[in-house]
Amino acid sequence: MMPALLEVQDLNVWFDLPNGGKLHAVRGVSFSVADGTRLGMVGESGCGKTTTILALMGLLPPTASVSGRILLEGVNLLERGEQTISPHRWKDIAMVFQGAMNAFDPVKRIGRQIAEPMELHGVATGKEAASRVRELLVTVGIAPERARSYPHELSGGMRQRAAIAMALACNPRILLADEPTTALDVMVQAQILELLTHLSNELGLALVLVTHDLPIVAQTCTHAAVMYAGKIVEQGPTDALYHETRHPYTRLLWAATPDLESRDDVVSIPGVPPRLDHEIQGCPFAPRCYRAEGRCVSERPELRTVGKGHVSACHFAETLAVVT
Ligand SMILES: Nc1ncnc2c1ncn2[C@@H]1O[C@H](COP(=O)(O)OP(=O)(O)OP(=O)(O)O)[C@@H](O)[C@H]1O
Ligand SMILES: [Mg+2]
Repeated sequence: MMPALLEVQDLNVWFDLPNGGKLHAVRGVSFSVADGTRLGMVGESGCGKTTTILALMGLLPPTASVSGRILLEGVNLLERGEQTISPHRWKDIAMVFQGAMNAFDPVKRIGRQIAEPMELHGVATGKEAASRVRELLVTVGIAPERARSYPHELSGGMRQRAAIAMALACNPRILLADEPTTALDVMVQAQILELLTHLSNELGLALVLVTHDLPIVAQTCTHAAVMYAGKIVEQGPTDALYHETRHPYTRLLWAATPDLESRDDVVSIPGVPPRLDHEIQGCPFAPRCYRAEGRCVSERPELRTVGKGHVSACHFAETLAVVT
């Protein structure tokens, strides 16, 4: 059998803290991504989404330590660190960073900035790079002559498209997009999500889309992974997570769908996630959970299969089918 395009196994990330302690930001995360599929990683602020995808890029700061396996077509990118990962960064796995649309250098033309990764990674230089920039702009729905514009001359939506073009510069097979629609209005948000879906279908690109917003995942992704306090608590085909929700946290995320009118994208579930600078006994969601019982506080629920390709880490997963 062919190995999966990307398979993450038991990924853990710890950050050293200035007080000498450690923050366990990603806690045994496993998932796989096949060619042309779109995985949405969703969860509240601080649950470890960005840390997870920065680990895939090998771009965590030196204060981070990582364990587990990140297999790209069977090759473990964590095995020899930078030496193994750098030939694949941007060329196989590329990323649109959180806030990327606001991170362009204000004094350089957009086209120049999109050309830089190509030149850096030896994909194209000079005229060839310039012509590829124009092609990429067309791919993301921007008129090619916009290559000569400065970032401030583009709208927010166009800057986000340009950030996507930059990530596509070296023809990656996997695109990681961190909150690519936050701060955009609803119409532009929908257009960016359509663009990502289109790119995935047309280029056979696998997409990992990070967002706070479960409906965005429903609209865009074939698969969903719900993260809470550094763990995946429910994962599976997006349809299954919608029609057969098997974790109370996922259910609350569906219920907390933001009001489109208010543009408020903050998920409002009562309470706050636990701190990650200590280990957690039992279920991390128990203190906020409407379904929690005594055993949830003492006994950690492991992920288990609840349907086809569908896993949940709730002691009561099977009895959640009825809305309480
Ligand atoms: N460089 C760092 N040093 C120490 N702790 C960090 C560092 N980066 C992230 N963290 C911590 O790791 C945890 C996960 O953070 P991360 O940025 O991955 O969350 P996120 O899900 O992407 O959140 P958001 O939705 O706000 O972007 C948080 O508790 C965060 O404070
Ligand atoms: Mg983040």
